[in-house]
Amino acid sequence: MQALDLCFRTLLSPHDRVLLPFPGFFIDGIVRAAGGALAPFPSPERDAFRPAWGTARDTVAAAKVLFINSPVNPTGYVFDETDLEAALELAEQHDLWIVSDESYSHYVYGHRRHRTISILPGAADRTLIVRSFSKDFAMSGWRVGYLHAPPTIIDDLRRALEWSCLCVSRITQAAALAALEGPRDWIAAFVDESEVRAGFLADAINDIPDLSCRPPAGGLNLLVRYAETNPDAIDDLIINAGVPAHPGEAFGAPGYFRLQFGASHESLARAVDRIREWQLRRIHRESSVARA
Ligand SMILES: Cc1ncc(COP(=O)(O)O)c(C=O)c1O
Repeated sequence: MQALDLCFRTLLSPHDRVLLPFPGFFIDGIVRAAGGALAPFPSPERDAFRPAWGTARDTVAAAKVLFINSPVNPTGYVFDETDLEAALELAEQHDLWIVSDESYSHYVYGHRRHRTISILPGAADRTLIVRSFSKDFAMSGWRVGYLHAPPTIIDDLRRALEWSCLCVSRITQAAALAALEGPRDWIAAFVDESEVRAGFLADAINDIPDLSCRPPAGGLNLLVRYAETNPDAIDDLIINAGVPAHPGEAFGAPGYFRLQFGASHESLARAVDRIREWQLRRIHRESSVARA
């Protein structure tokens, strides 16, 4: 998160805009703190949440940065070559920096592969890549990650970092080093397990009346359509049903909520039971109101 903050504090001047596909990872607060504003364009569900690159041209005015995140939190969409080429073409045409959040790059399912935009010819000079130990090494809570940036911008990034926290704490650096030097064989097994959990959760959610979702192609998140714009319904799901859901509004997706499937199979099964009960209660309530 700090790497993202650093990118925008370094790249943006007041009133610069950040172009990004929505639903997507919500960086509004970070961008506003850096004096900028978001310029979202859609990633429609009917296209499996693929960004509608053609429409980005309508919102590109005053944009300085294109923010991309693949696999996407919360939709689980994974960019393919067409997306990467469209993103680079847009950035080149409008002379944009690209901030590429690749935090979930290990978590890509089925026949797909994660590709970083920086391997496309001409991309590396304008691309800053953000990655997180939270996902790469299942170290959420340690809040450590890293940034890969072109040499032309490194000094500016370093100066911006010196005026915030200087560096991550020594104990966190030691934990990160242990992760880098430790065994890696567990990662592939954890990714396989995550794919199984994704499939289980998506099937179970699609089995509940009036809830639907697309099985995620990557990442650790699932976006569920529940067809209601009252965010209180999600408060009820969190507080009364005890499911740690996230309202879709937080990702530019009203009428949806996000679930994470990093937990054990047993926890996910328990969450599904609670979501089913919550949904059946809602349906029952609505039909009682309709009858009255
Ligand atoms: C897409 C994305 N980027 C960045 C982060 C922040 O990661 P960290 O735990 O390293 O702060 C998250 C956290 O969930 C995320 O989903």
